[in-house]
Amino acid sequence: MRLDKYLSHCGVGTRKKVKKHITQKRVTINGNTSIDPGTQVDPDRDVVCMDGREIHYEQYVYLMMNKPSGVITATEDVKDRTVLDLIDLPVPKDLAPVGRLDKDTVGLLLLTNDGALAHRLLAPRSHVDKTYFAIVSGEDRHVDETDVKAFKKGLELSDFTCMPAELLIVEKKPDHITETRVTIREGKFHQIKRMFAARGFTVTYLKRESMGPITLDPALSEGTYRMLTEDEKGLIAQDTENMVE
Ligand code: URA
Repeated sequence: MRLDKYLSHCGVGTRKKVKKHITQKRVTINGNTSIDPGTQVDPDRDVVCMDGREIHYEQYVYLMMNKPSGVITATEDVKDRTVLDLIDLPVPKDLAPVGRLDKDTVGLLLLTNDGALAHRLLAPRSHVDKTYFAIVSGEDRHVDETDVKAFKKGLELSDFTCMPAELLIVEKKPDHITETRVTIREGKFHQIKRMFAARGFTVTYLKRESMGPITLDPALSEGTYRMLTEDEKGLIAQDTENMVE
């Protein structure tokens, strides 16, 4: 792999920026200064440093984003801004969101170029728990125990029966507004909104708080993201180890 590609894949900067760093003699390969961005590097054997700090090559990149409202969960779109447009790091070309959140849904979104892992997390038979905080509005009532029971039993929608879901009433507000927390183990299109609609409620705010063993970092404001930590990567690997391929 070319040295400039290696460095930009590792998130050091854009190819243009990285070339500049190289010509400024800030980069070494196995202790020798390299001034040619086209120098070949073997990620398994060579030690690449910039300003004396080792730059490790990772084939796979894993990001956690707090998705804001108003952007779509896609890699490109002719009309709307996508979650990838929010990322200002140089990232691998094949980075993609794991699953989808609606345009108006906020919260935890994982992105990776590890297609096998994404597939394991999303496979319908994997049943990964996803927890959402939802504010819902009722015509003439709050969410109550009858709804909790119905969610638990498995709601009948027009085209499928939902798996049992956990519905927690967090707080009842004026005007038949209820704050809730819902955990589902599947991820059909508009599922949470459709589940509440089946009980006569409209979801006015939806935020994903967790997916499998990963919880949204409260330090991430909407529209920001960070790499997953080694611990978080380990948790996902453990969680998906025995899942269907
Ligand atoms: N359920 C929904 O209705 N929308 C989402 O974005 C995610 C789950």
